[in-house]
Amino acid sequence: MMNVINWAKAKKSDLHTYLQKRKILSNEKANYVDFKGFIERDMLLLAHSLEKGMGIPNPRIGYGRKKAALLVKNIKKYADIYGVSSFPILESIAVLDKYIALMGEQHVNIDNISEIRKTVSIDCDNYCKAGYNDYVYEDLKAPNSTNFSDLLSSRHSIRHFSREEITEDELKTVIALANRAPSACNRQPIKIYYTKEQVTAREFEQLVDGSHGFQGEIPYYLLVTVDRAYFGNDEFLQWYTNGGIYLGILTLSLHSQDIGSVILQWKYAQQCEIQVKEMFGIKKSEAIVALVGYGKYPKDGTKCIVAQRKSPEDTLKGI
Ligand SMILES: Cc1cc2nc3c(=O)[nH]c(=O)nc-3n(C[C@H](O)[C@H](O)[C@H](O)COP(=O)(O)O)c2cc1C
Repeated sequence: MMNVINWAKAKKSDLHTYLQKRKILSNEKANYVDFKGFIERDMLLLAHSLEKGMGIPNPRIGYGRKKAALLVKNIKKYADIYGVSSFPILESIAVLDKYIALMGEQHVNIDNISEIRKTVSIDCDNYCKAGYNDYVYEDLKAPNSTNFSDLLSSRHSIRHFSREEITEDELKTVIALANRAPSACNRQPIKIYYTKEQVTAREFEQLVDGSHGFQGEIPYYLLVTVDRAYFGNDEFLQWYTNGGIYLGILTLSLHSQDIGSVILQWKYAQQCEIQVKEMFGIKKSEAIVALVGYGKYPKDGTKCIVAQRKSPEDTLKGI
């Protein structure tokens, strides 16, 4: 049922908030329709998906051909209109070239894709690297130094784990660190729900998305939720800001304790949400921010995708 406002009783500030929210939400999509942005999004999503395919333990022979065909079409379209110098297209080309090379190694014919690729030439220094790197255990685990930049740059999303047990005490150490995350008015609206046993993770995995291509690899899952009831009327969606900050610090806290992790996107109100909430006893007022798969770093090492980052110049926009 729609929320009906009693205008006579409503305070001026309530009214202002209500009208503001209505304005933002009405025709919301129109606020972010941007053709260039849409192609950049499509290219980056397709490129990431192809790169991720290279980074999983055993890439399927000939995987991703439909995606690569779409990607190359988008690259061509974007190049013709906007040129070949921005991060999204350089990154997409870097990934596509690695993919074409991999298909060559797998003896898979993708001439339709390679031919279009050849028609796009790069008109600046391509700073994007793509593909994956192989890491031995010593490189995966957190550095012994207390240097924050070392910790930050040695963290990667992990999609292959050791089966070693993680005790409740180890998890408590991680959460005590992650709880150092800032939150609005120090409200700390976060809760972490987790699978205690590896066998529970297997059952849970049947319900949720995100580990496509590496199912069965994740020994433990946790869910980050934020209680929306902790936020006032004028703090609409602030739960995701608070939850996102926590999530970032959590992944670093896990890494600092030699635990690898991968954040798995939680799609708002996805089909399994009610079932998952029942399973863990999560309140209706809690928003699920993300799912995290975690486990000890594998002693036999693993691949991690390059996941090229933008240059500071691409990110910084001064006035
Ligand atoms: C909000 C969010 C959702 C993500 N969802 C997924 C996911 O569903 N599956 C997955 O394999 N990785 C997922 N990731 C991991 C990203 O792919 C990864 O962080 C990115 O490629 C950068 O690589 P890195 O973490 O190794 O530096 C997600 C990351 C974030 C922050």
